[in-house]
Amino acid sequence: MTIKPFKLERFYTIHEFTAEYLLCSSDCESMSVRDVLSLENGALEKFQDLWLGYTETKGNPFLREDISSLYNTITPNDLLVCTGAQEPIFLFSQAILKPEDEVIVQFPCYQSVQSIPESIGCKVLDWTVRYENKKFVFNINDLKKLVSNKTKVIYLNTPHNPTGFHFSKREQLEIIEIARKNNIIIFCDEVYRELEHKSEYTIPAFADIYENGVSLGVMSKAYGLPGLRIGWIATKSQKIIENIEILKEYTTICNSGPSEFLAGIGLRNRKSILERNLKIVEKNIALLDHFFIKYSDLFSWDKPNSGPIGFVKINFDEDDMVFSERVIKKKNILLLPGEIYDYKGFFRVGFGRKNMPETLEKFEEFIIENLIK
Ligand SMILES: Cc1ncc(COP(=O)(O)O)c(C=O)c1O
Repeated sequence: MTIKPFKLERFYTIHEFTAEYLLCSSDCESMSVRDVLSLENGALEKFQDLWLGYTETKGNPFLREDISSLYNTITPNDLLVCTGAQEPIFLFSQAILKPEDEVIVQFPCYQSVQSIPESIGCKVLDWTVRYENKKFVFNINDLKKLVSNKTKVIYLNTPHNPTGFHFSKREQLEIIEIARKNNIIIFCDEVYRELEHKSEYTIPAFADIYENGVSLGVMSKAYGLPGLRIGWIATKSQKIIENIEILKEYTTICNSGPSEFLAGIGLRNRKSILERNLKIVEKNIALLDHFFIKYSDLFSWDKPNSGPIGFVKINFDEDDMVFSERVIKKKNILLLPGEIYDYKGFFRVGFGRKNMPETLEKFEEFIIENLIK
């Protein structure tokens, strides 16, 4: 198997722990082990007594019970817990696809949904975002044109990385109708779910409303706990769960027991964690909105209604990678250039972190010193 290097993860490996300011993070503000343990009475004692043996391949039954509470119809048996969201993307694709299958992928995308099917020998068709009147749109008729009798999987991601686009309930039903008619599996990466800025933007999980739907969830983004490396696949298809479980026995076998324990606390207390994170998002997005209006000659942004990231258009004549390198060099601020997504002319911003206002001030300094004549 040859697989392309993952451009985004390479970029982060190089810069994430050296840049002083991160203006492109896709995870919300994190917390310490102490903070997590303080969310429940007696949790510290239980954590100290936790037995460090192997855990169940499918995931600790108690944790699966907690995860199932995020869904309407998914039971603990319909879940497979994995390492982060990256492992389930890899395992699902390896378990389901074979050479010559066609898959459709929203483009731009988190690269694994493109590179892994390609490495298996599949034909990957891009459902490319339209940028119309400074807004991102995934046009359903464009999707219809890509579907054929060879289409095995439609990979979706909503709320979307990097554009911040989020499907409406109507669009979701239209996509399911297309998939159902053609017996296509929908794999929806829902790692930014529960970060809808208003509850009216919430849509059902694909696994809840489509019999061939697979929903991907994780502790990393909305809950801000990426260090736990706990993610999961939810689907009513036992065949899919079983095929992935068989492959997981070749990768990680089971999850980290301490992480499963802490993830359970996080999920049982998710209302308060989400409330905190949504407050941060609300404050930061207002600042960004004001900022991009102030500098609308230089940048255009389509303010997202969900999630912690947005994709900003550069309106002056400079390559996005060159611009990002200049910002790192002068102010030690990390932006994520569109080049990383093979989608030039834009950069990603993240607004789930507490120190974003300070980072934005530094970015404004850069603009005043370097871009305003
Ligand atoms: C859309 C999307 N899917 C999956 C992942 C991988 O998540 P994790 O780091 O928890 O494995 C990311 C991380 O940035 C992401 O943005």
